Amino acid sequence: MGGGPPPDNVYGQASFERSLMRLQTDQVDLLYAHFIPSVEPLIPLMQQLKQAGKTRYIGITTFMPQQHEQLAELMRKHPIDFVQVDYSIANRDAEKTVFPVAVERKIAVVVDVPLGGRFGSILGRTQGRTLPPWAADIGVGSWSQFLLKYVISHPAVTCTIPGSTRLEHLVENQLAGHGPLPDASMRKRMEAVWDSNA
Ligand SMILES: NC(=O)c1ccc[n+]([C@@H]2O[C@H](COP(=O)([O-])OP(=O)(O)OC[C@H]3O[C@@H](n4cnc5c(N)ncnc54)[C@H](OP(=O)(O)O)[C@@H]3O)[C@@H](O)[C@H]2O)c1
Repeated sequence: MGGGPPPDNVYGQASFERSLMRLQTDQVDLLYAHFIPSVEPLIPLMQQLKQAGKTRYIGITTFMPQQHEQLAELMRKHPIDFVQVDYSIANRDAEKTVFPVAVERKIAVVVDVPLGGRFGSILGRTQGRTLPPWAADIGVGSWSQFLLKYVISHPAVTCTIPGSTRLEHLVENQLAGHGPLPDASMRKRMEAVWDSNA
């Protein structure tokens, strides 16, 4: 007569099945554990679902720099395919913690909150500032493109998922996916411009 709640993998299985039903599919491309403390209990189930062809890839997400060390540890320990992690020109911590492990273990990196997040967008800090003239050399015509090209040009980064509630922002942001990307020396110049006004 054991009391207490069912183990996490039972919740995980039910949650996954509910998602499949809502998405009207029987398989997905990517399944994330969205809560770092849930990773250990859920990893066996996630691996089973991958082996059964229910998901192509599995991964872990965070949006907090204080969880990066723990995330890097989990990346070393478990055979995961993706991480989703916070990174921006104003929040470069992941370069030291998460990215080296991603490169070493060939784990894809999706950057969330590349503009600082919907509650603390760093675009507010660019108001009244003009872009440096050399931004045009990398096809950058706005600050959002400057910030997004910085993020996606890091060699460890696979892609980013900026959020927006406005169509004109969506169009502007999509353009950051076109044209040349900054190289390492251009990235340093971008950092210098940002840091001088931080
Ligand atoms: N895994 C996790 O734990 C986690 C946590 C947080 C977020 N995420 C994911 O990460 C993604 C991005 O998150 P987010 O939207 O909070 O952060 P974000 O992309 O860094 O920032 C969005 C903010 O930037 C503004 N913005 C976007 N494009 C703009 C432009 N061209 N010009 C001016 N302002 C612009 C948006 O305002 P407007 O609406 O006015 O465009 C919004 O306030 C989402 O898919 C979210 O689900 C994941």
